[in-house]
Amino acid sequence: MRTSTVSPSGDEDDRRVRAFQARIDAGEKIEPADWMPEDYRRTLIRQIGQHAHSEIVGQLPEGNWINRAPTLERKAILLAKVQDEAGHGLYLYCAAETLGVSRDELTAQLLDERMKYSSIFNYPTLSWADIGAIGWLVDGAAIMNQVPLQRCSYGPYARAMVRICKEESFHQRQGFDIMIKMAKGSDAQRRMAQDALDRFWYPTLMMFGPPDRDSVHSKRSIAWKIKFDTNDDLRRKFVDQTVPQADFLGLKIPDPHLRWNEDEHRYDFSDPDWGEFFAVIKGDGPCNRERLAARRKAWEEGEWVRDALLAHARKSAARRRQEKAA
Ligand code: 3HC
Repeated sequence: MRTSTVSPSGDEDDRRVRAFQARIDAGEKIEPADWMPEDYRRTLIRQIGQHAHSEIVGQLPEGNWINRAPTLERKAILLAKVQDEAGHGLYLYCAAETLGVSRDELTAQLLDERMKYSSIFNYPTLSWADIGAIGWLVDGAAIMNQVPLQRCSYGPYARAMVRICKEESFHQRQGFDIMIKMAKGSDAQRRMAQDALDRFWYPTLMMFGPPDRDSVHSKRSIAWKIKFDTNDDLRRKFVDQTVPQADFLGLKIPDPHLRWNEDEHRYDFSDPDWGEFFAVIKGDGPCNRERLAARRKAWEEGEWVRDALLAHARKSAARRRQEKAA
């Protein structure tokens, strides 16, 4: 393992940590076989694992609409998008595995609620316009957060993010396309689009994490280039990017305090309800129980597949051993 197996003296430890930080400061990538401080490894497992779980749980609110998509074309697009999210989860589990944690262990931690997934996926999708709002806002926020992660100091995570970001851009575009159709459609469609924006606006702002004053990990993660911006900075960038898009759609951001700040050249906006955010990440959001129940059911019902794959792998290994011995 890359982390210290012997216990070096305090001086030796400090020297290693300084050399490690110097590599990061110089823009070098840390690879799985390299030495790394235990906290760096743990922080990455936490972030990559939560990110992977978010991709997997994130299939549920949209999967809810695959059978009800309004046209065959929309259905095909939505299916492809949901399958992409599954793929993202798998790349990310693989990236986490290079840090010495198995996918089964990460899944166990999700299912017994020791690990989180993004708060946003605990909100229900009530109408087809919600699928547009998720693509436009949720994938838009995901891109804002994830594009910098392509430069993450940890090589396997950075490389996984390259493909993920390309696919997220397609997801955002398809969501905005649904919103255009709805917002420029009949009165009823416009009302649905506005209602989706009203319900998803603040939960989307929460995706960037708690306000900087409550962010426990930001400072160290930024120093390690596991994060590049603070939560509040990314939230602000997202608002600045999204308000003109809402204007283009002719929809109103549900924030009475939203205004352009000429001096600072950015929008002033209202904070989400942070009490609600902390309740959701503690398991008390509108759909937390439903989401976890769905993941537990999938895990239990997939047991025979895992058993069959293991049995096959064992049989193949035994055959290879016999062939070698012969
Ligand atoms: N939902 C759930 N938990 C959240 C959260 C959110 N939106 N924002 C923060 N938290 C949690 C943190 O995980 C941490 O809890 P922990 O100590 O138990 O792990 C706690 O709140 C304090 O927050 P911090 O700001 O200190 O945490 P981080 O520095 O890790 O920042 C983050 C949070 C910005 C989400 C960061 O982890 C990150 O950039 N992660 C990678 C990207 C990611 O996971 N995105 C999730 C969305 S994926 C997605 O959107 C799928 C796409 O298809 C749409």
